[in-house]
Amino acid sequence: MSHKAKSTPDKKPSSARPGRHPALSKKPLGLPTRGKTAPNRLRPTDTFLALCHAEFVRALPGLYVDLGYGETPQTTLESAARLRRLNPGLQFLGVEIEPARVAVAQYAAGPQMEFRLGGFNLPLRAGERAAVIRAMNVLRQYPEGEYRPSIDILARYLGEEGLLLEGTSDPPGRWMAFNVYRRRRAELAYDGLTFFARLRHPFSPRELQAVLPKNLIHHAEPGSPLDRFFGDWERCWRRAFRRAPEDPRHCFLLAARDLAADFGYPVDRRSILLARGFLRLTSIPGNTADQPSLFRTPPEKV
Ligand SMILES: C[S@@+](CC[C@H](N)C(=O)[O-])C[C@H]1O[C@@H](n2cnc3c(N)ncnc32)[C@H](O)[C@@H]1O
Repeated sequence: MSHKAKSTPDKKPSSARPGRHPALSKKPLGLPTRGKTAPNRLRPTDTFLALCHAEFVRALPGLYVDLGYGETPQTTLESAARLRRLNPGLQFLGVEIEPARVAVAQYAAGPQMEFRLGGFNLPLRAGERAAVIRAMNVLRQYPEGEYRPSIDILARYLGEEGLLLEGTSDPPGRWMAFNVYRRRRAELAYDGLTFFARLRHPFSPRELQAVLPKNLIHHAEPGSPLDRFFGDWERCWRRAFRRAPEDPRHCFLLAARDLAADFGYPVDRRSILLARGFLRLTSIPGNTADQPSLFRTPPEKV
C-alpha cells in the first residue's frame, strides 16, 4: 500500500497487494483522498455509540481515534463535544494521511485532543491503544481489494473490546451505513451492519443502497441477497407507510419489525434504535465469506 498515490478514487496504488501486507512500516499506509466533510455529518455514529455502547464510552479504556477526518477536523470536534457528555475525560486523536490537513487541525489541538499524521498503521505512541476507531468515508475511495487488509491493520491497534466503526454516508449525513467490528481477545468479531436514515427527510430504503460500505457496495447487483433485502425493506416500508403515514419514526419501526417477522432478517428490534432511524442487522444478508469474523493476529505492540 502506498501513501503517495494520487487522490484518484478507486485507483489502485502500484504497490497495493490485496490480501497481503508488508511488515508495518513507520510510513503512513494508505492514500490521501478527497477531504470533503460537513458539519454534523457523522452525528449518527455518536448517537449510535451513546445508545448501544454507553457503558463502554463512560469507561473508555483508550483513545477515540478518528481516522481520515478530512479537510477540517470539525467532525472530530463535534464528536468530542457530544461524547464527553458521557465521559468528560475522553482523549481524542484525529489521524490524517494528508499533511496539510494535519497542519490545519492544530488550531483545535489541546490536552485531550491531538491531530497526527498517519495512515492505517496508526501513529500511536508507546502505551497508547485505541478503544474506538472511526473510519467514515475513508475506505469508500479505495479499491475493494484494499478493504480487508486495511481493516486487519486497524484491528491491530484496538484494545480489548475495542470498537471499529467503518462505513459511508451521503455528503450531509442524511443516509449512512456502517460496519461495526469488535475486538475480542485475538479476534475481530463482526458486530453488525447498521443503516441510518434522518427521518425528517422523505425516505425510501433504497436510498441506503448508495451508501453501503465498500465491502458491500459492489455486491448489491439485481437478484443478489442484498438487492432482495432492499426490495423486502421497500415492501415493508410501503405497507408501514399506509398504516402510519404521518409518523415516519413509527413507520420505520413497523417496517423494521416486519422485516424481521415476515422475512426473517436478523434485525436488532430495540425501539430505542429503530425510533431514531437506526436499522441494525446482526449479520449481512447472504454474505458469509466477507464477514470478517475472525482476526487471529495478536495485537500490535505499540
Ligand atoms: C472524504 S474524507 C472523510 C472526512 C470525514 N471522515 C467525514 O466522513 O466527513 C476522507 C479523508 O480520509 C483521509 N484518508 C484516506 N486514507 C487515509 C488513511 N489510510 N489514513 C488516514 N487518513 C486517510 C483522506 O486524506 C481524506 O481527508
